[in-house]
Amino acid sequence: MSLKNQPPAQAATTANANAQWGGRFAGGPSDIMQAINASISFDKALWKQDIAGSLAHAAMLAHVGIISREDEAAIRKGLTEIGAEIAAGNFAFSEALEDIHMNIEARLSERIGEAGKRLHTARSRNDQVATDFRLWVRDAIDGLDQQVASLMRALAERAREHAADPMPGFTHLQTAQPVTFGHHLMAYVEMLARDRGRLADTRRRLNECPLGSAALAGTSFPIDRKMTASLLHFDRPTANSLDAVSDRDFALEYLSALSIMAMHLSRMAEEIVIWCSSPFSFIRLSDAFTTGSSIMPQKRNPDAAELVRAKTGRINGSLIGLLTVMKGLPLAYAKDMQEDKEPVFAATDAAALCLAACDGMVRDMTANTQQMRALAGSGYSTATDIADWLVRVLKVPFRTAHHVTGRLVARAEAQNIGLADLTLAEMQAEEPGITQDIYSVLTVDASIASRTSEGGTAGSNVLAQATRWLDTLADHPTTAEG
Ligand code: ARG
Repeated sequence: MSLKNQPPAQAATTANANAQWGGRFAGGPSDIMQAINASISFDKALWKQDIAGSLAHAAMLAHVGIISREDEAAIRKGLTEIGAEIAAGNFAFSEALEDIHMNIEARLSERIGEAGKRLHTARSRNDQVATDFRLWVRDAIDGLDQQVASLMRALAERAREHAADPMPGFTHLQTAQPVTFGHHLMAYVEMLARDRGRLADTRRRLNECPLGSAALAGTSFPIDRKMTASLLHFDRPTANSLDAVSDRDFALEYLSALSIMAMHLSRMAEEIVIWCSSPFSFIRLSDAFTTGSSIMPQKRNPDAAELVRAKTGRINGSLIGLLTVMKGLPLAYAKDMQEDKEPVFAATDAAALCLAACDGMVRDMTANTQQMRALAGSGYSTATDIADWLVRVLKVPFRTAHHVTGRLVARAEAQNIGLADLTLAEMQAEEPGITQDIYSVLTVDASIASRTSEGGTAGSNVLAQATRWLDTLADHPTTAEG
């Protein structure tokens, strides 16, 4: 229904009470009540999980003798047919039936009669939705995990290709020391590995089955919760019925993990934007991952990267939104909790799209290695190598070496030349012990090759890191299209 232009005072009332719970209700809800109450427009996304949960519940009810084998067979057949109807787009979702649980249950009774009405024995929509939603988040985690692994592999492949290609390394976005492009890309592989770890932790903790907690207090029927838990591939049943129906921390943990991951993707996206920008020109994206300008024909805009950066806002917003819904709710279930789904769905869609876009851009980009190499040596980026040489060869204390190097940089800067262009005499004017040997550490390649400490940027290190990750990720399929 639409409430457009309809003042509340004149809101209509639907004639009939709810078919599922309307026993003690004489009239139906007002249109406004129905509009604010219904969740079917979005929770229909849970239909597969709802059917899976009901199949497990029915099998258990028959196993312990609460319903007959015949009823269970009829329920199984009915639910399977309803699943086919929904999959084919032939299911008429009804707002009057509020949510996915009652839409499916009402249709089941319509199809199979009495047996369908026995399905809701020893359960409530409260444990039902808690179960469905955990199943949904678990599936979403499994899907995203594959995507993260694919992106890690894309990065490690490009890193292997550019393991020894120099680029300027930055701190404060000021040229700091030369690093390799491969090293820079591998930094994101490490971040994404932790993101996967957070998703895996979330999955491990959420993998307990609320089904059988009923409305809040458990049930007087002799149910077998271990059976339903195991049929739905949960590790065990939840331990406290009040907690089970009212906890949504699994969803919050999931959104936290997605927010942190989105923050990483957003940083990567921001770097892609910077690297594409013409004063930098470190990389080029093809037509597949850029758009043109309607007025400036020369432009090639990295819109996909910008949108990855922006969609982080939506994901963070989902986390803050659900935290706000949940804070201060008394135990156990409250209808507020129906608002848990849309933020989780929205954040999942955004995260999946961001991962796909990053995966695509990383595979698509062409590195301008000449430009990166040229800039890697600018900005006195090898000054630290001079200081290190003074410490290593002349045994000058580092702090003193730092001052000497600072004066050498000032001399070079005053003449607008590089450090390697200073004469030996000029060098010796600042530190008489300096010999010709110091020039060997002033090149970008020498600087990079010397950084062999564990985790350092030396090409050999980067190649080893990238290869190790590619071995680890070998069994993961690529999820990117292009
Ligand atoms: N649609 C509801 C939700 O998503 C299902 C649970 C409703 N429970 C209830 N007692 N009204 O939260």
